[in-house]
Amino acid sequence: MRNIDAFNHVRGESVYLDDIAERQGTLHAWVFGSQVAHGKILSLDTSAAENMPGVYRILTAADIPGENQIGGIIADEPLLAEGEVHFWGQPVAIVLAETEAQAQEAAHKIVLEVEKLPVIIDPREAQKVGSLIMQPRTFHLGDPETGFAECEYIFEGVAENGGQEHLYIETQGAYAWPKETGSIYVASSTQGPTAVQRHTAHVLGIGMSRIEVDVTRLGGGFGGKEDQATPWAVMACLGAFLTKRPVKLVLHRMEDMRMTGKRHPYSSDFKIGLDKDFKIKAYEVTFYQNAGAAADLSPAVMERTLFHATNSYFIPNVRATAYSCKTNLPPNTAFRGFGGPQGMFVIESAIAFAAEKLGVAASVIQKANLLKEGDEFPYGQHTEGCEAENCWQTAESRYNLEQLREEVNAFNRENTLLKKGMALMPICFGISFTKTAMNQARALVHIYTDGSVGVSTGAVEMGQAVNTKMLQVAAQVLGINPNRIRIETTNTTRVANTSPSAASATADLNGKAVQMACENLLERLKAHIAIQLNLEGNAAIEIQEEQVLVNGKTVDLPWEKLVFSAYWSRLSLSENAHYATPDIHFNPEKEKGYPFAYHVYGTAIFTVTVDCLRGTYDFDSVKIAHDFGSSMNTNVDLGQIEGGLVQGIGWMTLEELIFNQEGRLLSNALSTYKVPDIYSVPKEVEVHFMDTPGSPRAIFGSKAVGEPPLMYGIGAFFALRNAIKAFRPEAEPAFVAPMTPEKVLLNLYPEFEAAAQTASVKENAL
Ligand code: MTE
Ligand code: HPA
Ligand code: MOS
Repeated sequence: MRNIDAFNHVRGESVYLDDIAERQGTLHAWVFGSQVAHGKILSLDTSAAENMPGVYRILTAADIPGENQIGGIIADEPLLAEGEVHFWGQPVAIVLAETEAQAQEAAHKIVLEVEKLPVIIDPREAQKVGSLIMQPRTFHLGDPETGFAECEYIFEGVAENGGQEHLYIETQGAYAWPKETGSIYVASSTQGPTAVQRHTAHVLGIGMSRIEVDVTRLGGGFGGKEDQATPWAVMACLGAFLTKRPVKLVLHRMEDMRMTGKRHPYSSDFKIGLDKDFKIKAYEVTFYQNAGAAADLSPAVMERTLFHATNSYFIPNVRATAYSCKTNLPPNTAFRGFGGPQGMFVIESAIAFAAEKLGVAASVIQKANLLKEGDEFPYGQHTEGCEAENCWQTAESRYNLEQLREEVNAFNRENTLLKKGMALMPICFGISFTKTAMNQARALVHIYTDGSVGVSTGAVEMGQAVNTKMLQVAAQVLGINPNRIRIETTNTTRVANTSPSAASATADLNGKAVQMACENLLERLKAHIAIQLNLEGNAAIEIQEEQVLVNGKTVDLPWEKLVFSAYWSRLSLSENAHYATPDIHFNPEKEKGYPFAYHVYGTAIFTVTVDCLRGTYDFDSVKIAHDFGSSMNTNVDLGQIEGGLVQGIGWMTLEELIFNQEGRLLSNALSTYKVPDIYSVPKEVEVHFMDTPGSPRAIFGSKAVGEPPLMYGIGAFFALRNAIKAFRPEAEPAFVAPMTPEKVLLNLYPEFEAAAQTASVKENAL
């Protein structure tokens, strides 16, 4: 089954937000943001801007008819700043004009007077002064004190990771217009249509039933549009509500980069204890999450960091604590992996550090501690269908790990200025929203009288091809040609109260609902066939390839005829189904439960070649054994592995957000923020589809694939580290990601080592 969007994508015919035909009387919005990261608002003067050509109206907090509040988990975030500003770029006013250029021009004339307050950009500094989003949380397993007491070796260190810009190709935007009697229609580039609906209703002070949110597709979301598509949609709706004209708001790239939150940077302390056989007996970790200026999704992201603090390893004694630290950066948000990658980076750093001190390869410790069937995670769930060792061993044998290792060693013996490094990266990722209540979805399926089918779900298409998967489910259950089926836009009036398309769970949750709806329709049709053919019961009836079969034999009742006959017998040809993941639960007081429907496993082997004169590098190959269950679409799933992998490599090696001490983002364009391109992807990417049992909670046994592969990218950091050490064995690079070419170069030469340790703190130099 080909991705159903492929044809229109390559022809440029797919409709994104900015492609929606403009309606008469449309006003264009430009958002005026704070030019200070923290301060008290003394005055806001929009009079000069109001007199600029084309300006229709300027909106500020004072114009909001409902509550000026868009906080999702915690109500701590105004739509438009009032009284104070908390980050550079925080929206303060919205200019509505006849053209976008006029709105932008006028925004320059707005005068915001601010009395500056101290700016905090460092999470540890925030934690020291008690600037926290919420109370810290701790996950426990066993008894770490006793565990450490029994250890032969104990190592302590610090690990830090940078943030990451989502860089969805389609920037944030929304297009709203008034309908009758004060209702609003809004097309939004959002992963969470219901979140947009709820917050818009709240800000406008009207019922959710009067807001219709519609999503055709996103030009990428990656978590950046789970929560942070909301403000722009609410602003467009506010404009449409107050002016009774259509309002279009699409952020330009630089505004998007400045005004929206990113992956959370973390600074973390680790302590790892091992016995003489390299079994990890105890692990203690403290995470300092840089949440930015408001909660956004930070509490949930922090929770997932704790869930994944031990990655794919069994450790009997664990204490993992996390602080969500409030700083003056734009509120950080969901990003593929949702805090999991940050947790995994720290345990991998701890293992690498221990391995270096013990003079063994990190893979020796990794392998000795992989999860086994029945092992307990620090959150109380035990592994079921654990594939950790299977994936590792498959990667090891299939890709000839020993031979690879020898080739790398031989290359390093023969070369002085080129050095290779290797690393293995096992992953284990839990599938489900960590908030149990969010694991629900609905589908609405109509069979039209001509036999064609319309399917609506809460799933948002953002490039991950969830629409293709939904179509496959409907076609397979109904036994009809996929060409008959249309996957409708995601619309809050058709499918209500949806969870965002996130947590890699979209296809499972919505797919199960589609499956249920189609099965119900099928049962109804079969009952109808039984009556028509005078059969006793339905057991012998099937529909395959648009034909009715009884006891395996075709009867003369093709799909179209069947559907029409059912309609003529006054049967409902529509079905609405609801799915909620069974069995899962979590108790946040005890920090124990069974939060995940299942886990996804895999192992990647990295090799990299570093040019030790320049510090530049090329990834030679990444070879992966991945636990897909029985993949329902291998092309789509392979695309997710490749995309996630490269995005993870970018985070670990190239992408460096630089804020100055005043909290202003300096890397706010692609000239200063480097993302992976065709030259930086590995020369060879091999993915082995492990034929694993899957899980009954995965749609058709096809395991979720959206986020897990991002975490393979962590292997890139450690492969580089090993190449650096091949050039200079006494090098001790800090566990600070990203490992950019500049940082590699500084770490290669002892005279630059000191500079390398602080290379992530460049604000002063800039
Ligand atoms: N793939 C593409 N092409 N574009 C995206 O925006 N988002 C990722 C992942 N893969 C994304 C993507 C993220 S963050 C998630 S949570 C999942 O897709 C969401 O979709 P799924 O639940 O259908 O896997
Ligand atoms: N993953 C992604 N998004 C979420 C989650 C999660 O676990 N919880 C709330 N939003
Ligand atoms: Mo993905 S970070 O759960 O949108």
